Amino acid sequence: MDRPRVVLSRRLPDAAVQLLADVADVVQPPVDRPLGAAELRAAVAGADALVCLLLDRVDDALLDAAGPQLRVVANIAVGYDNVDVEACRRRGVRVTNTPGVLTDATADLTLALLLGITRRVGEGDRLLRAGRSWGWDLDFMLGTGLRGARLGLVGYGAIGQAVARRAAAFGMEVAYAARRPAADGAPPAEHLPLEELLAGSDVVSLHCPLTPQTRHLVDAAALRSMRAGAYLVNTARGPVVDEAALVAALEAGEIRGAALDVFEDEPAVHPGLVGRDDVLLTPHLGSATVQTREAMAVLAARNAAAVLGGQEPPTPVR
Ligand code: DGY
Repeated sequence: MDRPRVVLSRRLPDAAVQLLADVADVVQPPVDRPLGAAELRAAVAGADALVCLLLDRVDDALLDAAGPQLRVVANIAVGYDNVDVEACRRRGVRVTNTPGVLTDATADLTLALLLGITRRVGEGDRLLRAGRSWGWDLDFMLGTGLRGARLGLVGYGAIGQAVARRAAAFGMEVAYAARRPAADGAPPAEHLPLEELLAGSDVVSLHCPLTPQTRHLVDAAALRSMRAGAYLVNTARGPVVDEAALVAALEAGEIRGAALDVFEDEPAVHPGLVGRDDVLLTPHLGSATVQTREAMAVLAARNAAAVLGGQEPPTPVR
């Protein structure tokens, strides 16, 4: 019997490739960089499984290009806003993601950004590298302390909860806005309506998926409702924030600063953010540790292999 064909949109760590090679023929990407849409359509033709990145748009055009034998799209990310899940469902294609394995890495980076923006780490680094004169002084480059500050989490899934645990260790008071109250076992935090959370938080950190409902959730009105001394942290998805409105809000002093790991039009960054000292920027590094990326790729490979073997995948998108 013919072995199934697994197409990779990007080279994967050996452990993931080996796992797939045990059950299928693995087709490596034609070039060593993320594929463009047309390249991906060409690469996926005849695939039984596609293992792809959050950069890859999986829509009707891609599914048509793949052909009716496609059985699974294994996304190497917890977020799957790049995948048209309904279109996959209509064709009987399973979709999987990689929750769990990147929770700690993403929560760690959230704290790094939170500390970085409130204690002006990026700004201090830039000052020294620019060779500007400076000297220790009582009021030199003062930031905001975290003990007793209120952290408002938008979204209280695994990553939001991991951030809550870390924030509690810094003495922050934590609240969250989410559609449903957290299940038993979640770190204690007040469940608030979004408007109340935004108005009452010293730091607002985003941990919701990108959906039609959360696109531009943080818009001009939301930013205006935040405290003047507040900070915004986004390690979720760029389009949850209206970047133009954010630039305007910073300009008008409506909030104190923002730390962003994700952007509306990645990899582009709104030019109005780039030159600002009250903004800390990282290039979508939430899950970027050696261990986490390997674990994500291996989990995606296990998902694809399970579906090809006629089994339930470990982490399906339902
Ligand atoms: C995810 O898994 O959705 C992250 O954004 C990847 O870094």
